[in-house]
Amino acid sequence: MEIKDSDTVGYRQENLSLINEIRRLKKEKHVVLLAHYYQVPEIQDIADFIGDSLALAQQARDTTADIILFAGVHFMAETAKILNPNKKVLIPDLTAGCSLADACKAEDLKAMKAEYPDHMVLSYVNCSAEVKCLSDLICTSGNALKLVNALPADQKILFVPDRNLGGYINRMTGRNMRLWPGCCEVHNLLEAEKVLKLKQAHPEAKLIAHPECNQAVLEIADFVGSTAAMLKFIKEDASSAYVVATETGILHAMLKICPEKKFYIASPSDMTCCENDCPHMKKNTLEKIYRCLVDESPEIILSDEVIERAAKPIEAMLRMS
Ligand code: 13P
Ligand code: SF4
Repeated sequence: MEIKDSDTVGYRQENLSLINEIRRLKKEKHVVLLAHYYQVPEIQDIADFIGDSLALAQQARDTTADIILFAGVHFMAETAKILNPNKKVLIPDLTAGCSLADACKAEDLKAMKAEYPDHMVLSYVNCSAEVKCLSDLICTSGNALKLVNALPADQKILFVPDRNLGGYINRMTGRNMRLWPGCCEVHNLLEAEKVLKLKQAHPEAKLIAHPECNQAVLEIADFVGSTAAMLKFIKEDASSAYVVATETGILHAMLKICPEKKFYIASPSDMTCCENDCPHMKKNTLEKIYRCLVDESPEIILSDEVIERAAKPIEAMLRMS
């Protein structure tokens, strides 16, 4: 999604000064700022590009900027480095991780591979660079179904690390992929019962859900898709309202695309007004982005060997996408 400068009109003065400094430094240092849809609105509005994991990886691969500043989480910035290793890749907070990436350690995957030597390893992009090195193919929530459908029907697959996305793909394709037991700490907490209550309070609304949600939520959803797929859906769909089962940050892009529609974010809490924030995504702030531009740090550093090995399954994904 392309961003216009006019998007930041109306920001508070202290934010505006930071925003102006960030814009100046970006230009001076030839930096491209990539932001995920789960970032806070003020970060989305100053990004050069916002997108889902797949689109951001493609942007990182193709950019001609000298520096990539990635306002997302660690595995996303690592993927950018792997795809464009000659660029300096910066991340505002090095500790912005992901419960899915943490759920699958390279040593454990090595052991599992030894147990199932006839299985190929298909890894969701939400995993570490070391896990990518042990993978045959990477997927995102935006292309997982397409990629799995393109694999031979008798291909045995070990899917890591998201059991919810993996289970969804199994149900949609009729496959029987072996699933790693990881999950997203944000999406997995959404409960079908509470989501249904919210839907009952807004009977005109359709339920749209990210495939990282658990099976009970996905089974009652009217539409399941990646962040970018959800945005495409609400743009093309005729309904006037949606219950949204994913992270709060996406509402900003939804309201920009469809300002006349109503969006109700599903929450793990009983309070219908609560937000559903990823604590890792929300570690990024305007202040940290500014400091990151001044210091050109924290930087993503990976060995040449890791970059070479991890690039193979990611590039295979991009060719198939
Ligand atoms: P998307 O690829 O849909 O943007 O998902 C990334 C993610 O981390 C969702 O939790
Ligand atoms: Fe990871 Fe979940 Fe946060 Fe996405 S929302 S970055 S999957 S913890």
